[in-house]
Amino acid sequence: MRHNIKLGIIYGSAREGRFCDTVAGWLIEDIAQRGGFDLLTIDPAVDNSPTPDLRKRVKEADAFIVVTPEYNHSFTGALKTLIDSFHAEWQAKPVGFVSYGGISGGLRAVEQLRGVFAELHAVGIRDSVSFANVWGHFDENGTLRDSVLAEQALGTMLARLSWWASALRTARVAIPYEEATA
Ligand SMILES: Cc1cc2nc3c(=O)[nH]c(=O)nc-3n(C[C@H](O)[C@H](O)[C@H](O)COP(=O)(O)O)c2cc1C
Repeated sequence: MRHNIKLGIIYGSAREGRFCDTVAGWLIEDIAQRGGFDLLTIDPAVDNSPTPDLRKRVKEADAFIVVTPEYNHSFTGALKTLIDSFHAEWQAKPVGFVSYGGISGGLRAVEQLRGVFAELHAVGIRDSVSFANVWGHFDENGTLRDSVLAEQALGTMLARLSWWASALRTARVAIPYEEATA
């Protein structure tokens, strides 16, 4: 029997009135409908210091999806603070990206996050979901106006994320990652 994957959804914005809630809301509902994942949320607007409870959630997750906007060609300071608050908790785990913003769809933020997570021994998933000019994609209820392409992209990303999550969970249990040192 396949175990559900413990998936941490990380909010990339802590701004009041943030669009992040709309994008993350769509993502969480979509993944819940697909099944196969136990979801937990990690939100810098709520989790603004590395409490034991937050550390526990990051540690117990087998995989992450970062929902990130683009701020001045990068990601937000709140997200960086959250990432930098932990170290071993990220290691040997896959990270997927759902990005949004203006013309770039948040892709420049994602490219920078790939480098950050590589430094933390995490595996960035190649396939991502991106919303350029995000405001037009969702109606006032937070529903995607045209979901076909996004659903397709999300399906591909989740398939790859699941593969890595299962493979790395097995590997971490067999040999703790801390032991992978000369
Ligand atoms: C300080 C700031 C800088 C931004 N810089 C960019 C940018 O460089 N490229 C872009 O496509 N959108 C940019 N935007 C637009 C944001 O990506 C967009 O407003 C998004 O909704 C912000 O996410 P949030 O509402 O969840 O905080 C910027 C927005 C802010 C507030």
